[in-house]
Order: sequence, then C-alpha cells, then structure tokens
Amino acid sequence: MDGPSGSGKSSVSRGVARALGLRYLDTGAMYRALTWWVLDQGIDLADAETIAARATEPVLEMSTDPDHSGVTIDGTDVNGPIREAAVTAAVSAVAAVPEVRAHLVALQRTLIAGAPEGMVVEGRDIGTVVAPQAPVKIYLTASAEARARRRNAELTGSTVEAQVADMARRDTLDSTRKADPLTMAADAVEVDTTELGLDEVIAEILRLVKE
Ligand code: ADP
Ligand code: CDP
Repeated sequence: MDGPSGSGKSSVSRGVARALGLRYLDTGAMYRALTWWVLDQGIDLADAETIAARATEPVLEMSTDPDHSGVTIDGTDVNGPIREAAVTAAVSAVAAVPEVRAHLVALQRTLIAGAPEGMVVEGRDIGTVVAPQAPVKIYLTASAEARARRRNAELTGSTVEAQVADMARRDTLDSTRKADPLTMAADAVEVDTTELGLDEVIAEILRLVKE
C-alpha cells in the first residue's frame, strides 16, 4: 500500500492486516527511526555522504504485529520521538539518500520473507520497488485538504494551513527525489479516500483482495 501522507495508509493497513490475520509493516517508521538516529548523532542533514556512509551503523528492529507494531533503534524504543516535528521535517531528506533506501529496502524484504502467512506493507515505494510481485497493490489518495485536516486533528499547536504547507513540501520532496520517488505502480488500484470513512476504505480493500 502506497500513497502520500495522511491518505490513511497506516490505519487502513493495520485494519486490513487484523481482518486477514496478516503481519503489518510500517516502512515510514523505519525511515523515521533512522532519521531520529541521524539527528541524535548530530549529523548534518545536508551531509548526504556521511548519512550514506553511516546508514547501516544502528541496529533497527521492527515489530510486525498489527496490534503491537513498533520500532527500536540500538535497543531504544523511539515510537514517540519519531512522530515529533523535528523528525517529520527531516525525514524526506534522509529518505532521499540512495544508500539509506538500499539498506532499508533490504531490511524490508527480509521481514517480508520472514512472514510466509503474508504481510500488509505500507510506504511510498512498496508496489514499485520493495515488492513488485505483491499480489494486491493499492495506491491510497485523498485531497490535500482532507489529508491535512486528518493530520491536523492528531496534532496540537498547528493549523490546517500550516499542515497543508508542510505536507505539500514533503509530498514534493518524496515525489521528485531521484531515488525511488513516490509514484503509483502501473498495476496498482487507486482508492480515493477523500469521501470515505476508515471502515469503508478497509471494506473496499478487503473486497479487492477477495477479487
Ligand atoms: P498515513 O499513514 O497515510 O499518513 P494515517 O493512517 O496515519 O495516514 O491517517 C492519518 C489520520 O487520518 C489518522 O488520524 C487516521 O485515523 C485518519 N484517517 C485515515 N483514514 C481516514 C478516513 N478514510 N477518514 C477519516 N479519517 C481517516
Ligand atoms: O506518516 P506519514 O504518512 O506522513 O509518513 P510516513 O509513512 O511515516 O513516512 C515518512 C517519510 O518517510 C515519507 O515522507 C518519505 O520521505 C519516507 N518514506 C519513504 O521514502 N519510503 C517509504 N517506503 C516510506 C516512507
């Protein structure tokens, strides 16, 4: 499942995984955790060479249980800090470094291979790069306004306008980067969630899976 921020990937993927008894992988949390580590190490975000050279240094562990998903880095639980504004502002720059992507894509493929029952994987390049052989590919969208409203409802101290601007900046970076930009796979089904509730989106995807 791919799509831009706030389209509903995490909530929908978790719901679909629960309904089907599958594992669940939030690849965005992996990019966020590595970004948290880069900031914690005091590495300059503009220094792509150092980020590339050190990307494999920390030990990143993911839980793929849809009821207890989470990430640790060098044994530290970073599930809270990775959602903070500093990480959100920095993550697209770190995710644009090709060596970061190669490392995390390899980890993601190992996790997928370790779940023979199947996995719902969500991110930006799952249908195009991580799992081009996936039997079902969904591309979730929603209007920029709906996405910003949803994200804003999760945060305090922000406005919908500020959220629209921040998400537009990240969408542009994610869609225009050279390495594996966010784009819909040719064989993905697009689901526009602007006018749909969470349960309706999950039901639509379960229907597509059964097809
Ligand atoms: P993404 O992973 O694509 O960034 P999330 O799953 O985190 O999106 O969803 C962002 C927010 O919007 C969450 O608070 C979620 O509960 C809410 N949400 C997701 N899908 C819908 C929907 N179809 N209708 C209303 N709210 C939604
Ligand atoms: O929570 P939100 O949908 O806003 O983002 P996320 O899924 O947590 O992903 C955070 C960032 O990681 C994205 O803006 C991308 O820059 C990057 N990412 C990526 O490049 N490839 C992925 N497969 C997943 C995330």
